[in-house]
Amino acid sequence: MRILVTGAAGFIGRWVVADLLDRGHRVLATDNLVAGQAANLDEFASHPLFDGFEQGDVRDADAGRRWLAGTDAVAHLAASISVQDSIDDPGTTFDNDVAGTFRLLEASRLAGARFLFMSTCMVYDRATTPEGIGEEHPTKPASPYAASKLAGEALTLSYGHAYRHPVTVVRPFNTYGPFQRSVGEGGVVAIFTRRSLAGEPLRIYGDGTQTRDLLYATDCARFVGDALLSDAATGRILNAGTGHDVSVNDLAAAVEPDPSRIEHVAHIHPQSEIPVLRCDARLAARLLGWTPRVTLAEGLGRVRAWMADRVAAGIPLR
Ligand SMILES: NC(=O)c1ccc[n+]([C@@H]2O[C@H](COP(=O)([O-])OP(=O)(O)OC[C@H]3O[C@@H](n4cnc5c(N)ncnc54)[C@H](O)[C@@H]3O)[C@@H](O)[C@H]2O)c1
Repeated sequence: MRILVTGAAGFIGRWVVADLLDRGHRVLATDNLVAGQAANLDEFASHPLFDGFEQGDVRDADAGRRWLAGTDAVAHLAASISVQDSIDDPGTTFDNDVAGTFRLLEASRLAGARFLFMSTCMVYDRATTPEGIGEEHPTKPASPYAASKLAGEALTLSYGHAYRHPVTVVRPFNTYGPFQRSVGEGGVVAIFTRRSLAGEPLRIYGDGTQTRDLLYATDCARFVGDALLSDAATGRILNAGTGHDVSVNDLAAAVEPDPSRIEHVAHIHPQSEIPVLRCDARLAARLLGWTPRVTLAEGLGRVRAWMADRVAAGIPLR
């Protein structure tokens, strides 16, 4: 198959490109580079199945039509991903995550290409039960980011209902790994690890009892590939996560052994915080046979080693 990956120069997009090439598919990578880096894709440049990188915007309908010509499937990951940015500037998040999704969805319908929409676990309401959050758990648009993802999901599913177009929605829980941004509102693992390596204090928002289900990048990318390529996922919303959560306090202790280097600071958006995020991924296990392979300890070690190598090579972390 020839597969279009949007947001390909970003963190998860780069891993999805790697996963799809490994499976023997041709991949066209696109990104507008507002947050991603073309250098993240450098290692694929000479891969015989890599159809290249094109800088472009998912809001551009002409670009979408061009990318979709001769394409069988789309993994749509391009998005504004920051909760705080969406609160400060909801218009940009709406344009990228809702209008951009609509443009690309329409191009994929016209081209007859399967469409996978990358949503997020941030769409869920607070969990009140001890078991993990399943796909039937109530949603709550606690931020314009979550609202935009819910709108993108609804648009995506509507194409399944109205046109019988093959669509899938994936809701990954917090994903971490090499190539994730470690500045600004990057991933918590990336930020903690960068600060630990630099000898800087780790700052925890709030009391640190909030929990996260941390999914390693290759497990997330394999999930996207499985869901995109499986008929069993068509028309479905599927959670991607490990089923195990860790408190931010315990995560900080796993990254930084010196407790004096761990601080608690006031939360920047407590109103949009979800206190417990633990995934119930049994539906994906049943439909796709997908289960996570990388443990948290292994994943944290890989991130630390990757960052330390970059620092040693003089490559700035961003
Ligand atoms: N990282 C996580 O923990 C996580 C969890 C759940 C869901 N997701 C979703 O996974 C996807 C990838 O997230 P990520 O962590 O790799 O973020 P990222 O910011 O690294 O990747 C997103 C990419 O999209 C690009 N982009 C943004 N707007 C665009 C536009 N209008 N046109 C073209 N490209 C555009 C950016 O340049 C960036 O490279 C996003 O849809 C995100 O919402 C991420």
